[in-house]
Amino acid sequence: MAEKPRPLVAGNWKMNGLTADLAEIAVIRDALAGALGGPDIIICPPATLIAAAAQLCAGSFIAIGGQDCHPERRGAYTGDIAAEMLRDAGASYVIVGHSERRRDHGESDVLVSAKAEAALRAGLKVILCVGETEAERAAGHAPDVVARQLEGSLPSAPHGDSLVVAYEPVWAIGTGVTPTPNDVAEMHGFLRQRLAARLPESSDVRLLYGGSVKADNAAELLHLPAVDGALIGGASLKAAEFLAIAATYR
Ligand code: 13P
Repeated sequence: MAEKPRPLVAGNWKMNGLTADLAEIAVIRDALAGALGGPDIIICPPATLIAAAAQLCAGSFIAIGGQDCHPERRGAYTGDIAAEMLRDAGASYVIVGHSERRRDHGESDVLVSAKAEAALRAGLKVILCVGETEAERAAGHAPDVVARQLEGSLPSAPHGDSLVVAYEPVWAIGTGVTPTPNDVAEMHGFLRQRLAARLPESSDVRLLYGGSVKADNAAELLHLPAVDGALIGGASLKAAEFLAIAATYR
């Protein structure tokens, strides 16, 4: 059995955050300065704050990520952002395939895979999201749905270290409802098997859980053997709550 990878706690700010909110990132940076042995930390602010956040975190071990990228390097794509631009602004990760983009922007697995490829080409690491809706779970299709999303959205031949997969059941996002630890363990075990079948180096791929993670449920959801960390939405916006979640790994 391969050694468990270092845990990862990532914050997805979604469409939240103005310049004044960079102060939260500074609090997180200062609180974690010199804290060896904790989890890896990534913050994915909106694109407008990436360069400033990266500057704030330069020299710290907090990495900055984007929330989406376009598959092309450049061109006539009004409003879009290339992976190279995220990298240029100081990001080292990017989220692709978040359910809000799949739902609100009609993103298919093929498109998500192309975005993941673009991210790797630009030297970014990829946080690939998968997760079933409530109706899909109720119909007993959750494993099929996440397996199809995973297999359809993976970039070809990622190095294990360049890929993170986040299991985010859609019905748990922003609702305060979470799966049971048993359900999370089961789905993560299933995803781990699927990854191993597809990628030889997948033992380095970290499998995050996301969906209503808060300081008061973090310990029971994140310390399962099959879980390597968390992707946090609402609770990542305030430094104190985010730090309390990260502290469960100390
Ligand atoms: P919440 O933590 O707000 O439920 O959001 C989870 C999420 O979508 C992170 O990407």
